[in-house]
Amino acid sequence: MMRETFLLFLLFCSLIESSASKNTIKDHLQRGSSLSVDDSSDVIRSPDNTYTCGFYGFQSNAYWFAIWFTNSKERTAVWTANRNTPVNGRGSKMTFRRNGAMVLTDVDGMVVWETNTTSTDVDRAVLLNTGNLVLQNQKGQILWQSFDYPTDTLLPSQTLTKRKSLISALRRGSFEPGYFVLSYNSINVLILTYDSPETTVLYWPSPDPGFNVWSYGRTSYNSSRIAFFDDFGVFRSSDRWQFNASDMGFGIRRRLTMDYDGNLRIYSLNDSTGLWSISWQAIAQPCNVLGICGRNGICDNGVLQSECSCPPHHQQTNPTDVSQGCTPTFNTTCSNSTKFGFLEMPNTDYYGFDLNSIDAFLPTSFDACKDMCLRNCRCIAFSYRLTGEGLCFIKNALFNGFRSPNFPGSIYLKVPVDMETSESVSVLTSSNATCVEVVTVMLGSPSMYEPSETKVKWVYLYSFAIAIGVAEAFVMLLGWWLFYRKNALLTSLEEGYRMVSSQFRGFTYQELVKATQNFKVEIGRGGSGTVYKGILEDERVVAVKRLGDVSEGGEFWAEVSTIGKINHMNLVRMWGFCSHKRYKLLVYEYVENLSLAHRLFSTTFLQWKERFKVAVGIAKGLAYLHHECLEWVIHCDVKPENILLDESFEAKIADFGLAKLTQRGGQNSEFTRIRGTKGYMAPEWASNLPITAKVDVYSYGVVVLEMARGIRLSNIVVQEGEEEETELMRFLRVAKTKLQGEEMESWIEEIIDSRLGGLFSMKQAAKLVEIGVSCVEEDRNKRPTMDSVVHDLIDCESE
Ligand SMILES: *[C@@H]1O[C@H](CO)[C@@H](O)[C@H](O)[C@H]1NC(C)=O
Ligand SMILES: *[C@@H]1O[C@H](CO)[C@@H](O)[C@H](O)[C@H]1NC(C)=O
Ligand SMILES: *[C@@H]1O[C@H](CO)[C@@H](O)[C@H](O)[C@H]1NC(C)=O
Ligand SMILES: *[C@@H]1O[C@H](CO)[C@@H](O)[C@H](O)[C@H]1NC(C)=O
Ligand SMILES: *[C@@H]1O[C@H](CO)[C@@H](O)[C@H](O)[C@H]1NC(C)=O
Ligand SMILES: *[C@@H]1O[C@H](CO)[C@@H](O)[C@H](O)[C@H]1NC(C)=O
Ligand SMILES: *[C@@H]1O[C@H](CO)[C@@H](O)[C@H](O)[C@H]1NC(C)=O
Repeated sequence: MMRETFLLFLLFCSLIESSASKNTIKDHLQRGSSLSVDDSSDVIRSPDNTYTCGFYGFQSNAYWFAIWFTNSKERTAVWTANRNTPVNGRGSKMTFRRNGAMVLTDVDGMVVWETNTTSTDVDRAVLLNTGNLVLQNQKGQILWQSFDYPTDTLLPSQTLTKRKSLISALRRGSFEPGYFVLSYNSINVLILTYDSPETTVLYWPSPDPGFNVWSYGRTSYNSSRIAFFDDFGVFRSSDRWQFNASDMGFGIRRRLTMDYDGNLRIYSLNDSTGLWSISWQAIAQPCNVLGICGRNGICDNGVLQSECSCPPHHQQTNPTDVSQGCTPTFNTTCSNSTKFGFLEMPNTDYYGFDLNSIDAFLPTSFDACKDMCLRNCRCIAFSYRLTGEGLCFIKNALFNGFRSPNFPGSIYLKVPVDMETSESVSVLTSSNATCVEVVTVMLGSPSMYEPSETKVKWVYLYSFAIAIGVAEAFVMLLGWWLFYRKNALLTSLEEGYRMVSSQFRGFTYQELVKATQNFKVEIGRGGSGTVYKGILEDERVVAVKRLGDVSEGGEFWAEVSTIGKINHMNLVRMWGFCSHKRYKLLVYEYVENLSLAHRLFSTTFLQWKERFKVAVGIAKGLAYLHHECLEWVIHCDVKPENILLDESFEAKIADFGLAKLTQRGGQNSEFTRIRGTKGYMAPEWASNLPITAKVDVYSYGVVVLEMARGIRLSNIVVQEGEEEETELMRFLRVAKTKLQGEEMESWIEEIIDSRLGGLFSMKQAAKLVEIGVSCVEEDRNKRPTMDSVVHDLIDCESE
């Protein structure tokens, strides 16, 4: 009875609603008026009726304030105000308050979202024909616009800039933010990353973090970082990336959406049917979206859709969401007492996280490969190729898994020996990623693209060709090539190949003896080894570092290859390595202009402009190491001696990655001994806390404060009658009070390196000191990330 009454009530309501609808649709909202969730026709329309803005609910009682296409059959939202916090379907309101702010309140009156337009002269809220909700004043000036806060969709004429990114929804039919992100990276290139709490991986335009920007038709030199697409369907980005929608032309409504399945697509609306069709997408094969199936998950490319599944003895981490990956159901703890065996998963591979990526190209027997994984506690699985003489990759994490019937290899999962029975992989849920353009390209194991010696690779490719036939080899080459050079021409295959492989290679000991004239010119000496100058046969000038204390065995190669893949303007490039008996040598690019220590604490000190440029450069380099590498790298020894300067005073950070190479402790432990240099070491080194990237942030803080002061802050100052303290401690004691105060300007003038004679930008100096002070916070959670430091510095770069 109750129920019938309720249904009748609902019917009644909807009748009222439809009769009222003609009256309540608005073309603008004035101060003091509001839209209510209780009346579904209480909306704002754009003048040409394309877009509607109002409350949008599609699940239970959760409502969002959104903008959607009026004519799309399934309401397609292009923007939501309260993405993270839906409001109640009763009593919630979007109010344009008299004080000038648009405020979204939940049923209990709680403010869920608001604009920062209080005390401006905004007068009305209007939904423009472009889909932009704007707050303007009587003169028509726009003081706030929804275009500045994109969610997962970009509309024609809306710009994507430095500070903006498109973040996918967590799942189909949800507004909650997910893990796939379209944004500019720190070197000005538009990229797609999978950024989950567990891992961050780049997957487009290339899954290789050191990818050659130019080979994708991009440039990293335009720092304006702006992208947009126009009504004609042409997309343009400041990194020179450009593409056209397949239905290019005026009069079609389009949207660029970062989809929940990790693909970036342009959709076009068919006005007569109200349905969307895809007119462009970034990624042809759904399984090329790294991270799509989460940790341990495996992606299968189907003809119409792809699906995620879990390996044997694993279960979905979240039973209702495959994209969150799989968790092993067995105890993975590696100890002497557990005996491990292996489970084969045919035609399967996982991308990256190889422990042995360099010597993986040397033919290895199956048993040797198995043994290598058994002996290494960090190895949780290995990949073995059945072709030719056998290729072995041992893995320390399983991400980016995929299966393809054409893939000529298997993954062998390390499991406790009593589980070593075969079990078919259970497909748990389908993620329904639709694949519009199925390209039959076989994906080789990514490990295959690892740089290595040219010869070895060709030998491998040839034997492979003989083994499985020329046609398939061609497909494989094509796959490899498409992976690296999506838009290049087939004729440049060989050239493309050389480009990839020449970035990093092994050297023979004789080559390096010759290059350095038997280690004649020593140019540096430090904790990790001695550095010599050399000239290679191709006339490149190099710095050859001979390492002292190096971990034995396969791990050296793994670490070196990780470093070798890192490529950033502000990091000293590693060109190769050499292992000869007990010698381990690393070959770096030679950087001309001495170190920052020389340029700071000597009479040839840098002027302000260069100093600031160097501070920005170091920040960019560290941000890259911390946030954008496939495997993050913590430097652990940031100090002026490790910052080299090139002829145009561009900072180049040296010695990154060596922490892992020279100081690796026992099983699974990252750092057992303290590394770093007194005066630059974060306090947590002394405590038992795990070491995170924030130790580099601390050291960076000390370095920039030294750049501002022009002196070593680790120097001891003895105050009369007081305990001794370092320059840094004294500086911080004063800084805390002065930074806020009125007299900041005079204080800044007083503390900035007096040798500059007052020639510096006040704004930049204040910013640098402020950042430096926040970076050396005792509590590492209060220190900023290097990414945010870069943003802050770039903001005042043009002073
Ligand atoms: C509101 O915030 C935006 C972005 O943070 C800023 O550009 C704008 O100037 C702010 N407006 C007002 C009136 O404070
Ligand atoms: C950088 O890109 C913007 C936007 O595409 C363009 O207007 C500008 O001219 C470019 N700058 C340079 C130096 O190429
Ligand atoms: C896009 O279309 C323009 C013509 O409007 C053409 O010049 C350009 O080459 C096209 N770009 C691509 C990537 O097809
Ligand atoms: C829209 O859909 C209809 C029916 O499927 C089709 O006939 C028409 O060609 C489509 N229009 C466009 C512009 O694609
Ligand atoms: C896994 O095994 C180790 C020793 O083999 C033991 O210390 C640990 O508690 C086990 N963990 C779980 C979750 O069973
Ligand atoms: C584990 O093996 C290592 C060497 O293989 C040995 O030094 C250590 O004592 C063993 N630990 C246990 C608990 O058996
Ligand atoms: C996948 O698609 C099928 C049919 O297209 C549909 O029945 C099913 O509900 C979809 N599954 C998910 C998880 O969206």
